[in-house]
Amino acid sequence: MNSYINQVDFFKGNNPEDIAKQYGTPVYVYNEEIIREHMAAVGKVITKYPYTANYSVKANTNIEILKLALDEGINCDAMSPGEITLLLKAGFPAERIFFVSNNVSAEEMDFAVKAGVTVSLDSLDQLDRFGQVNPGGRCAVRINPGVGAGHSEKVITAGKNTKFAIAEADIDEIFAIAKKYDLKIVGINQHIGSGFLDPQPYLDAVANLLRIADRFENLEFIDFGGGYGIPYHKLDDEAPFPMEDFKKKLEPILDEFVERYGKAPLFKSEPGRYCVAEGSLILSRVQAIKQNAGVKYVGTDVGMNTLIRPAMYDSYHDVELVRDGKVVDRVDMEEVNVSGPICETGDLIAKHRMLPVAKTGDLVAVLDTGAYGYSMASPYNSRPRPAEVMICRDGSLKQIRRRETIEDLLAYF
Ligand code: LLP
Repeated sequence: MNSYINQVDFFKGNNPEDIAKQYGTPVYVYNEEIIREHMAAVGKVITKYPYTANYSVKANTNIEILKLALDEGINCDAMSPGEITLLLKAGFPAERIFFVSNNVSAEEMDFAVKAGVTVSLDSLDQLDRFGQVNPGGRCAVRINPGVGAGHSEKVITAGKNTKFAIAEADIDEIFAIAKKYDLKIVGINQHIGSGFLDPQPYLDAVANLLRIADRFENLEFIDFGGGYGIPYHKLDDEAPFPMEDFKKKLEPILDEFVERYGKAPLFKSEPGRYCVAEGSLILSRVQAIKQNAGVKYVGTDVGMNTLIRPAMYDSYHDVELVRDGKVVDRVDMEEVNVSGPICETGDLIAKHRMLPVAKTGDLVAVLDTGAYGYSMASPYNSRPRPAEVMICRDGSLKQIRRRETIEDLLAYF
């Protein structure tokens, strides 16, 4: 693909140069339509049985994006009282929020219980604490299905090498603790990792979780977690997550379970990245170009403070060059490193990347930044976080978060 921006008409007739001038750079730009399409798609992963997708809001907690999930009729999962609060503020009723907790305090559990949000506990110790906080209450437990997958070891959340979930070997203990505090285990959940494009490990994990589910009586729901990847190498025509094929393979696994369990509980999934990643890019300005030891550096204002994924996981994000409001054709390319303004050698958004020859003043568009982009941004080097702007369905622009200011940073002191 020569240009994702042109292929999907990302800016819907708006001139990216005008957006950069109006809101400053770097700036996160979202496309409402693309996000809605992805949210709608995850809502249809299972159609034969009762099912709801929970958008995993850690990927992007902008309230205007949470409102899109609300409007698309999907539910959400939260990882902290902060995320629960943002969801309530966006208009989600408590029963549409699921708190997938990990190493939380009694106060945080109490916060969720008082808000009316169902909590998932992910260790025996936490289940015991929940029993103390909310005796006689309802909750879910997170089970390790023994299979993990993900784009980096750092984001594989099941299998042997992870802090998450309760092992199958400890299930009798779950029942013992539930009995001690008269807890009702209404659901079980899993999450095997993030950003896989091969659905097979996930299908294996679903089958394992359903085998484990046989041991739980009267489950109201079974949640298979998220993790569906997106094609970050789209300019090289990487294939997307094979959603249709995946759905076809998932159905017989569910059929078999429903038959032996005697009823279909509510099935759930928890996709984050898939919903939002492809619906956003960062516009940044080329500030300086230099050669160091034979390597050309295109120095921009998008650094690891704005997008940590390349520095943290060695993640790949496609980059397009924009000049005078138009994407520069991918011809006459040269190899460059795209760097940011942060005081670290690892502050590289793209390494050894073929790009059309860039000039100071051009815009660089970093693609697929809607998930774990702004939500992981920081004011490192005391650089205020950027603005976020939405290109609405009708093509109008809406600022959905203002740029942070240096005064904002001073406000903490
Ligand atoms: N549910 C649970 C319990 C999770 O831990 C996660 C992600 C999700 C759902 C959503 O997974 P997704 O569908 O987005 O893959 N910061 C990393 C990703 C960390 C994911 C952590 N857990 C990155 O930038 O790639």
